[in-house]
Amino acid sequence: MAYPKLRKAVFPAAGLGTRFLPATKSIPKEMLCLVDKPLIQYGVEEAVAAGCTEIIIVTGRDKGAMEDHFDSSPELEAALAAKNKQSLLDVVRSVSKLAKTVYTRQAEPLGLGHAVLMAKDIVGDEPFCVLLPDDIVDARVPCLKQMVEAFYETQSSILASEVIEGPAISAYGVLDCTPMPQNPRLLAVKGMVEKPKFEEAPSQNAIIGRYILTPRIFAMIESIKPGASGELQLTDAIKALLQHEKVYGFHYEGKRHDAGDKLGFLKATVEFALKRDDLGPPFREWLKNLPV
Ligand code: UTP
Repeated sequence: MAYPKLRKAVFPAAGLGTRFLPATKSIPKEMLCLVDKPLIQYGVEEAVAAGCTEIIIVTGRDKGAMEDHFDSSPELEAALAAKNKQSLLDVVRSVSKLAKTVYTRQAEPLGLGHAVLMAKDIVGDEPFCVLLPDDIVDARVPCLKQMVEAFYETQSSILASEVIEGPAISAYGVLDCTPMPQNPRLLAVKGMVEKPKFEEAPSQNAIIGRYILTPRIFAMIESIKPGASGELQLTDAIKALLQHEKVYGFHYEGKRHDAGDKLGFLKATVEFALKRDDLGPPFREWLKNLPV
């Protein structure tokens, strides 16, 4: 039996964003902007481009700015209309029309697995996508769209994966896997380890913030115990899922930026600004004259 079409995308956005303090003391990390667009909007646009029509954002305390961002803003729209600023009006209106957006709360940041579990009733019994808003993937074909195609081929959970060289691998969930002969982008997953020591990492294939999951994942999250950090880890639940179903890693085509980290955010800002038609040329000129 084939799964129904993927329609729903879950965005866990209830974390504390401690790597970005003090900015994230009152501003949700997901609302930090690359050039002029909040991180979470990049993710929502990617999900919509992949065919998703329902966006589920898992929020926590002080996250109201996200709800306002994806809602219509009658006063701003009226002010822009009165000043004949049509192109800005179109930009503002298009954000609220991207997709149907619903919100659910995670009362405490008890881990990524727990955040995904908060979406259980809204997702129901169908496969769904998970996007971590601070992983920004710049790709010709949106990363999630590439994964959706792989999902329809395999009818199994798919985890986006990137090769990470050296000790930096210890910051990731890491796949124990073998490439599939018929599609070298697909990796058959045998196991996975969350944040292994460099010497103990089973491969260089790190899991990044894009997942397509079958609905059985919810029972798996409910079955696992919190890890050493007291958090319910999504990787532990996917490991449990492996006992029942196949799971694949997927080497996407594109460049990922860890925009939840200050240095990664700076690099992404520079690259995205350089690509802009309006800002790129003067910004490039200005960069050339920097004493670096
Ligand atoms: P991160 O670990 O990158 O986010 O989780 P964080 O915990 O907010 O950041 P730091 O490490 O303290 O700086 C990836 C995504 O998962 C969400 C976060 O909001 C982020 O978008 N998340 C994480 C939750 O929604 N709930 C959690 O309990 C943990």
